[in-house]
Amino acid sequence: MQKKSILITGGAGFIGSHVVRLFTKKYPDYKIVNLDKLTYAGNLENLKDIENLPNYAFEKCDICDAEKVAKIFENHNIDSVIHLAAESHVDRSIEDPLCFARTNVLGTLTLLNAAKNFWKGDFNGRLFYHISTDEVYGSLNNDGSFFTETTRYTPHSPYSASKASSDHFVRAFHDTYGMPTIVTNCSNNYGPYQFPEKLIPLFINNIRKSKPLPVYGKGENIRDWLFVEDHARAIDMIFHNGKIAET
Ligand SMILES: NC(=O)c1ccc[n+]([C@@H]2O[C@H](COP(=O)([O-])OP(=O)(O)OC[C@H]3O[C@@H](n4cnc5c(N)ncnc54)[C@H](O)[C@@H]3O)[C@@H](O)[C@H]2O)c1
Repeated sequence: MQKKSILITGGAGFIGSHVVRLFTKKYPDYKIVNLDKLTYAGNLENLKDIENLPNYAFEKCDICDAEKVAKIFENHNIDSVIHLAAESHVDRSIEDPLCFARTNVLGTLTLLNAAKNFWKGDFNGRLFYHISTDEVYGSLNNDGSFFTETTRYTPHSPYSASKASSDHFVRAFHDTYGMPTIVTNCSNNYGPYQFPEKLIPLFINNIRKSKPLPVYGKGENIRDWLFVEDHARAIDMIFHNGKIAET
């Protein structure tokens, strides 16, 4: 197994913490660097069980801080990125769209630039893997159809518009500079360590407190659900076997 030094952004968040746990435990020869700003959504308690593993390091950093991000690439000799850091809650994006543009668009671009500058055109053994959302494809029809990787982008919320924009930048870095990139657009995740503002934990807590269950519109929206540990395993598989430049 080739040794790797992987930067996982947003590793203190919900999905990121499962990815960090899986990679640190499964690949003791890999160095896993968790870069996270620790916003309201990030919690190092999610990683208590692995924080002392010798192949794990934590860097508190904003992905928009170009200077600090560049130093982290250098200090850890980063050869791969699994990018999960984002503002991720649709309701918050409606309140504060600029914050979503800053982190999800400018932050992703800052990371891409840092990778490009550090790898200096030598992309052998390198990968920038961007985790996005199926919300870039808009709404599902009620006819049993699914989104596919060729579905047209139709984002509706500031959150999904910001993620759509970041997907385009990732592909542009492949097409323009030849950077090896992969994008995945998963559906809603559920499972341990999810922040209680999200639908399933919110509903469970409201049911326990006999509070109303808030549903968008008339409750006709369709959602697909993915267990977060299955998603982490998919990320592992795609990281090692995914086709470059594909979705
Ligand atoms: N949760 C889902 O159902 C779902 C579905 C599809 C796609 N996604 C995508 O997966 C990724 C992870 O989602 P999640 O649910 O784990 O999110 P989350 O909100 O639980 O965690 C996000 C993490 O990113 C960190 N972060 C936020 N802004 C940052 C910044 N500027 N610099 C550095 N770190 C920052 C936070 O501190 C937090 O630890 C996101 O990119 C999201 O768009 C999530």
